[in-house]
Amino acid sequence: MSDQPDADGSNAPAGLLARLAGSLRARFGAGAAASPSGGSTEAAESKAGPAQEAPHPLLRAHADKLCSAAAAVLAVRPGDHVFVGTACATPRTLVAALEALGVADVELLHFLTDHAVAHDEQGQASTQFRHRSFFVGQDMRAAVRQGLADYVPVSLARVPGLMAIGRIPVDVALIQVSLPDGFGYVSLGVSVDVVATAVAHARVVIAEVNPHMPRSMGDSMLHVSRIQHLVLVDTPVIEYLHPATSAPAMQQIARYIGSLIDDGSTLQIGLGRVANEALRHLSDRRDLGIHSDVITDAIIPLLENGSLTGRCKTQLAGKIVTSFAMGSRRLYELIDANPLFSFQPIEAVCDPATLALQHKLVSVTQAFAIDLTGQVCADQFSGEFYGGVAAQAEFLQGASRSPGGKAIVCLAATDDDGRTSRIRPVLLAGEGVTIPRSEVHFVVTEFGIAYLFGKSIRERAVALIQIAHPDSRPALFEQAQALGYLPAHQKLRNLRAYAVEDEATVRLKDQRALLLRPVMPTDVEGIRRLFHRLSVREVYTRFFRKLRGLTNQDVQRLCNLDYDNEVAVVAVTGTRELPVICGHAMYVVDPSTNLAETAFIVHPEWQGQGLGVAMQKRLAELAVARGVRGFVAEVLASNETMIRLAHTSAAEVQTVSLGGTVRITALF
Ligand SMILES: CC(C)(COP(=O)(O)OP(=O)(O)OC[C@H]1O[C@@H](n2cnc3c(N)ncnc32)[C@H](O)[C@@H]1OP(=O)(O)O)[C@@H](O)C(=O)NCCC(=O)NCCS
Repeated sequence: MSDQPDADGSNAPAGLLARLAGSLRARFGAGAAASPSGGSTEAAESKAGPAQEAPHPLLRAHADKLCSAAAAVLAVRPGDHVFVGTACATPRTLVAALEALGVADVELLHFLTDHAVAHDEQGQASTQFRHRSFFVGQDMRAAVRQGLADYVPVSLARVPGLMAIGRIPVDVALIQVSLPDGFGYVSLGVSVDVVATAVAHARVVIAEVNPHMPRSMGDSMLHVSRIQHLVLVDTPVIEYLHPATSAPAMQQIARYIGSLIDDGSTLQIGLGRVANEALRHLSDRRDLGIHSDVITDAIIPLLENGSLTGRCKTQLAGKIVTSFAMGSRRLYELIDANPLFSFQPIEAVCDPATLALQHKLVSVTQAFAIDLTGQVCADQFSGEFYGGVAAQAEFLQGASRSPGGKAIVCLAATDDDGRTSRIRPVLLAGEGVTIPRSEVHFVVTEFGIAYLFGKSIRERAVALIQIAHPDSRPALFEQAQALGYLPAHQKLRNLRAYAVEDEATVRLKDQRALLLRPVMPTDVEGIRRLFHRLSVREVYTRFFRKLRGLTNQDVQRLCNLDYDNEVAVVAVTGTRELPVICGHAMYVVDPSTNLAETAFIVHPEWQGQGLGVAMQKRLAELAVARGVRGFVAEVLASNETMIRLAHTSAAEVQTVSLGGTVRITALF
């Protein structure tokens, strides 16, 4: 483990620097200690001179620690492991000075950086150090490809623990902080994440002190005594904005995610573009809260319109809890000295036990691919490492254990070419499993929402094929059968995109509300449960035979339809995870007459409230839109309710008695 910072004699920086510079010269020659601007070590020393005037009143008390970047990095020794501060607080000036200095055998370690390596015009990275990164962001992609940086697939929440026991050694920490207050406390500003632990275990802490760095509140304070060298930088804090996405697929996914988020939810948003886009669809929600590894500008509109109050949070109510921020100046101004925000170390924010205590926690993870069993690849794309595991595992587990929580994985149904399905029979070589199939709950594409947790392999395959691109579905279906995931009786009838515009809420006579939506192949269980709530007589009036249960074929006929000539709607209550089907209504067109035969089931507890009429009305709208001429219903003569119902479907109704049954034809 590294020595503690104070053991390094921080009270005598000028002497120390001179000593270090001298020893460097002795070891590597004078050229080894050049400053970033190409100046000499002597120049750096003169800038670091003890008599340097503190340029800011708040720094006057700490003038002895102030020096130039070139001078400060002289504290780095050959063989050191140098932690580099995160994301929008990347200490670029210090890193550049260290590159210019060129100490031998140094490893830089970091989570997410911005300009921690230089890139030429062709995008090639250049650095003289080894880099060890816990995330392959844009900054590290070329470096990883070129073999200059190593990716460490580890949960960010576990990194501080590894640092603390020395398995991830930190000798020097290069960070960026705010100005100190009158008590000598600087704030770690927009990046608290793993910085606090790195600082606690480093032999030397060198900080860029930036008057533009907001003073974030929470556990983000660090006393100047922990810092050996302060380097004043006067540059705007790095800004990060998601590129705007108008792609219809992204918008649709964002809308679906939005539809899963109820009032009073606490959100983890991460850095994914879609998750951030989803926040735009929450402006009518109330009392949302934030407990997220990272926050971005996407929270600002929700704060401004009053949707984000944190009132329902069961942990740190009212507070926006996060570990780092990546956004624009607007976000940073909002954060500055604002007690609404609580910045905390990553291991605290991502502690699964704390997360599970947070009610209605929603986490959103963006993935690259998923196989039909639910294995998710989220940190590799076309064989290349991309992004990282971050703290998604903790959030997924936390959200899934949180009462009323939702763990969501989202991905576009196809690659950018619009053809290659990202829902795959099996993951490809070069696509590792970031989230095991046992941990996956909601999966969202632009074609709908699948819920996989606790479901069988067959149910997962059906649910995922249903939200794949319609053109990919036949091949996925065939491969799923070849893999033995789907039994022979399983059908694939619907090759349309899920018709979300066909969803509507109906209010019944007793004021209860239900969702009316197209039936889906995943409704098998719900339909079986509905069937078993019917009396023997009701089963007979619906199916014209005595049935004790539905065979696989029977149930497929009710929920696996082409949605062209065979259309069914269901009336649903309950949750997305466990929908309760209260009504099922379908029609099948007879091509020879262009008339559609209808059939209805309403759960006994929901009968007599107008649900039959409402479902028939919806079916009629769908039938008219498909050019169907009218409805035909063959009803037992004793089934007065159904006879009344059938009469309500059109203005022109003919009734023919056929002995025990009645044939009712209603023309639109
Ligand atoms: C037939 C069935 C679908 C009706 O569903 P429902 O939601 O109860 O029907 P609604 O509440 O919309 O009522 C439909 C009409 O029947 C009338 N009605 C409802 N309950 C009634 C009852 N117990 N006796 C007489 N008429 C009744 C309603 O007043 C309404 O007529 P109106 O529009 O003239 O007022 C339902 O009873 C059922 O599932 N039965 C078992 C299966 C079956 O028989 N299916 C039909 C053959 S395919």
